[in-house]
Amino acid sequence: MCGIVGYTGTRAAMPIILEGLKRLEYRGYDSAGITTISNGKVNSLKAAGKLRELERQLASQHLPGSCGIGHTRWATHGKPTTENAHPHCSGTISLVHNGIIENYLLLKKDLQTKGYIFQSQTDTEVIAHLIHSLYDGNILSAVQKAIPKLHGAYSLLITDSNQPGTLICVKHQSPLILGFGDGENFIASDIPAILNQTRQFIFLEDSDLAVVTAQDCQIYVNGIPVERPVKTVSWSPAAAEKDGHKHFMLKEIHEQPRALRDTLRGKYVDGKLVLDDLQLSHQEITDIKRITLVACGTSWHAAMVGKYYLEKYTSIPTEVDIASEYRYRRKIIDSSTLVIPVSQSGETADTLAALKEAKSMGAKILCICNVMDSSIARESHGVLYTSAGPEIGVASTKAFTTQLAALYLMTLYLAQQRQQLNSTQIAVKVSELQAIPDAMEQVLRDSERYARFAERYHNYPDFLFLGRSYNFPIALEGALKLKEISYIHAEGYAAGEMKHGPIALIDENMPVVVIATPSEVQDKVFANMEEVMARKGKVVAIATNSTAPEAVSDTFIVPEVSDELSPLINVIPTQFIAYHIADFKGCDVDQPRNLAKSVTVE
Ligand code: M6R
Repeated sequence: MCGIVGYTGTRAAMPIILEGLKRLEYRGYDSAGITTISNGKVNSLKAAGKLRELERQLASQHLPGSCGIGHTRWATHGKPTTENAHPHCSGTISLVHNGIIENYLLLKKDLQTKGYIFQSQTDTEVIAHLIHSLYDGNILSAVQKAIPKLHGAYSLLITDSNQPGTLICVKHQSPLILGFGDGENFIASDIPAILNQTRQFIFLEDSDLAVVTAQDCQIYVNGIPVERPVKTVSWSPAAAEKDGHKHFMLKEIHEQPRALRDTLRGKYVDGKLVLDDLQLSHQEITDIKRITLVACGTSWHAAMVGKYYLEKYTSIPTEVDIASEYRYRRKIIDSSTLVIPVSQSGETADTLAALKEAKSMGAKILCICNVMDSSIARESHGVLYTSAGPEIGVASTKAFTTQLAALYLMTLYLAQQRQQLNSTQIAVKVSELQAIPDAMEQVLRDSERYARFAERYHNYPDFLFLGRSYNFPIALEGALKLKEISYIHAEGYAAGEMKHGPIALIDENMPVVVIATPSEVQDKVFANMEEVMARKGKVVAIATNSTAPEAVSDTFIVPEVSDELSPLINVIPTQFIAYHIADFKGCDVDQPRNLAKSVTVE
């Protein structure tokens, strides 16, 4: 998710926009830019890197004008370079954009045949040229004609130097708000950007197009004027950064449906999976004889689920290794080996080192990563990016579920290319995956139940998490999450392993979180639950209506989805358990002791 800020009024636009962008910088961005309009002239400055680089350059290059737009970018299409930074421009038109245009390649080809020359690799520049190609002097009508041609999710903020003082913005599945001042108005992707300027906001709805001047604002849907309520926001700036949530981790837990939709967007086109950035030829895919997934921490848990997917649908022998172990053991690698590093940050030292070693031995490297142009992405032959957006809480949540989705997509893609699944089978699997965000939303509505659970359970010194099959890694992940943010000792086990040791720990002081959603091994999970209860352990079940067990201490009901996709749902209760217990104990949820967001040392 990128950041958008716009201003129209009587004051100098540039400092207001820069200040707004700074207020979004806590989320971490890779490039930024500002355009202002003065005397019908476009003034623009863009810079790669942190916002301070743009600020440094602005110190010697003032951008005059009382109307302008700005953007901080989190790269999705094209590397984080100055050329790819927004605003993008075509003739008198400049714009900034959040989101993804799925059909940008088709539009680009068409615009190139009309003579448009592209300066960047972004999908955003396509929108600028598209609007320009439809422009006959009336920017509103050009934008209205362009919108139906754009597929995907986007929020746009547009200026036309022929109409100084007027900003046009469009919202479609990506947030955009209007802020109102006295003789001046503001536009932003996020409240914190302009909370120091106003407390009066309109939250635009999907399909809204707004024409904003210093004195006025008119919103249209399909060309028809509509009214939207003006709301007063009383959040503190700190609360606003977190969208009103108490912590970034809670905000990020709630962002998972959006993050997942963004990760899936544009990957399934005309009945086929299209993962162009993997850069693997048909022959290379056919030749793969062995797969190794390498990762650390939460990403390693995602990789473990990935092994189940890959072996089930591609029949390629697949192993998973902790990157710090992999790099120091003897490896059997040749050019038919595919190594898949999985990393949110793309900078984890052990994962990067494991990648480099496998690459030097001749393996093909395809990474799954959340940060464009990160070290791991750059070192890999191909990339499948997750679109979780910046993750700020040290405890990984939305990055994990998007990694699961990416691993599932990558698996289906390999199976498609190797002709192990036909198009009908792929279509069924993709539609099951596309239904997951809605199912997640059902679980997210229960947050308060977990808060009450935390009141009763925060004093237990130890927890066990049990799961089988696809949900064994979720047991590991649930335990990791609880220990890292609440400092409660927790262990995750494959439920069948319990009787090989951990059962000795079970008594009335041991809560055991059991993942008991429908599966082929459901009966065995139920038998494990009985073993816990027979020793007076407190069973906390994560189950569906059809598997809800009787006589357990607590049950969290989740919606029923396929067994193989259930980890994407079942992990959310474990995130909530960890979050609410840590919060109840007053722990520093977002920055737990001794931990860093990105572990760049061995
Ligand atoms: O950025 P990466 O995904 O490579 O990071 C790997 C681990 O350091 C990370 O998942 C860590 O375990 C998190 N704190 C878990 O919440």
